[in-house]
Amino acid sequence: MSPDPTGDVKNIVIIGGGIIGCTTAFYLASHPRYASSSIDITLIEASKSGVAQGASGKAGGLVAKWAYPKELVNVSFSEHVRLAKEHNGEQRWGWRMVNCGSWEGRGESLESSGTSSGLGAVGRRKSLEKTLGLESTDGSSKDASSASSHPSDLNWIKPSLTDSYSPMAPFGATAQVHPYLFTTSMMDLAKEKGVKFVSGKATAINIDNSNVSSPHVTGVTYAPSNATSGSQTFPATHVILAAGAWSPSLVPSLPIAGTRAHSITIIPKEGTTIAPYVLFTEITLPPDLASESSTASPEIYARPMNEVYCCGPGDDSPVPDTVDEVEVDARACESIREHVASISTELREGTVGRRQACFLPVVSVGGGPIVGAAESVAKGLIIATGHTCWGICNAPGTAKAISELVMDGKIKCANLDKLRPSRFL
Ligand SMILES: Cc1cc2nc3c(=O)[nH]c(=O)nc-3n(C[C@H](O)[C@H](O)[C@H](O)COP(=O)(O)OP(=O)(O)OC[C@H]3O[C@@H](n4cnc5c(N)ncnc54)[C@H](O)[C@@H]3O)c2cc1C
Ligand SMILES: *[C@@H]1O[C@H](CO)[C@@H](O)[C@H](O)[C@H]1NC(C)=O
Ligand SMILES: *[C@@H]1O[C@H](CO)[C@@H](O)[C@H](O)[C@H]1NC(C)=O
Ligand SMILES: *[C@@H]1O[C@H](CO)[C@@H](O)[C@H](O)[C@H]1NC(C)=O
Repeated sequence: MSPDPTGDVKNIVIIGGGIIGCTTAFYLASHPRYASSSIDITLIEASKSGVAQGASGKAGGLVAKWAYPKELVNVSFSEHVRLAKEHNGEQRWGWRMVNCGSWEGRGESLESSGTSSGLGAVGRRKSLEKTLGLESTDGSSKDASSASSHPSDLNWIKPSLTDSYSPMAPFGATAQVHPYLFTTSMMDLAKEKGVKFVSGKATAINIDNSNVSSPHVTGVTYAPSNATSGSQTFPATHVILAAGAWSPSLVPSLPIAGTRAHSITIIPKEGTTIAPYVLFTEITLPPDLASESSTASPEIYARPMNEVYCCGPGDDSPVPDTVDEVEVDARACESIREHVASISTELREGTVGRRQACFLPVVSVGGGPIVGAAESVAKGLIIATGHTCWGICNAPGTAKAISELVMDGKIKCANLDKLRPSRFL
């Protein structure tokens, strides 16, 4: 008889209901071996509000062929296309191709409503360092108002404020999803296939060390959300750690740190159409907004469901105990609003929907994400975290790889050697 590679796969516990955990749950439950065996899959999420409360619900949502690392992007982009096709992603999670480029220009004063009288003075302060690096011209064109490269259909930025626009990639190489809707859809689809969802905080990954040369996972201990005290334990043959910036609280040797980032959403005034562009901006701020810095670089994402998402820079605020305790600094949100309002009447006139913050899981030693079996810690322990700024894009590739690792015994869809946990632990 041929050996059954899933012979020892009985109970899979996924820790973390971000995009990585939820998408992995869906891919595991979609694997042909899952249907024909008695494997239990449980996903445990610490937030009292369910899945996608961290970075995965509060990200921009770009899915790009030009993202990194390439070996994950190669699998992920085509998987995103397939998932959208098979599960009506256009309606369900706002899947579409989008224009994407880097935009440089000048913000207008928010104090005077007409064309700013300070424009001339501000114009002299414009910084073109990035553009000089990108383009062969020396930036000597003073006639910024000609805005020759302002795309004709970019209808929510004043052409007269544009100094330069350059596409990141040809149309078709950049798509987007609404990350909260994508993540919750993955969880819902996983549940339909039999994955169990548990609301609780994992407090320990239990490891049997009785044979020092072959430690292996035995279960996950957790504090259920609906109980005031007491902990419970799930038995596990496989534990997938996908707890984002919180991953080191369960495996302390992981070189993962959290960077906080704020974002807002803007609902445009009724009747305003916002052309599908994602802009990486470099705004020279007008004097009334330039008290802390003379420039700002918010990312602005037009979304199909009458919403524009804008995010600001990161900060070093420490990672709190759980995602529900992440603090939102109202001033950080207001400055994002002011910065985008300074280049767009349409965004200035819109209503702010969400003001939010989240922690990006960053690999502190560079590289990453960290994806694969952590056999040096324990057999059955699998790591899937540290996706930095491309976790939305790279979730399907990660999930496919992990589902193969667990169900087939090895990753087949890509060579992910560079992401192996043993390189980082
Ligand atoms: C401002 C911003 C914009 C971004 N834009 C993009 C973009 O356009 N495209 C892109 O590809 N990526 C983007 N990203 C990156 C992306 O958001 C992340 O890489 C991705 O969301 C990480 O997903 P995750 O599942 O690893 O982590 P998270 O979303 O943080 O999920 C981890 C989950 O684990 C849970 N958890 C933690 N500890 C425990 C525990 N002990 N027990 C149970 N559950 C636990 C948490 O509550 C959380 O829900 C952006 C990020 C930010 C901050
Ligand atoms: C990704 O795909 C491209 C095109 O198919 C290929 O040229 C490249 O080698 C791949 N890169 C990796 C790291 O797999
Ligand atoms: C301990 O594990 C090693 C490696 O898997 C194995 O060769 C050995 O037989 C085990 N020892 C005992 C006492 O089970
Ligand atoms: C808590 O929820 C679990 C299911 O997630 C349920 O089995 C248990 O009875 C609940 N406990 C309480 C005290 O409500």
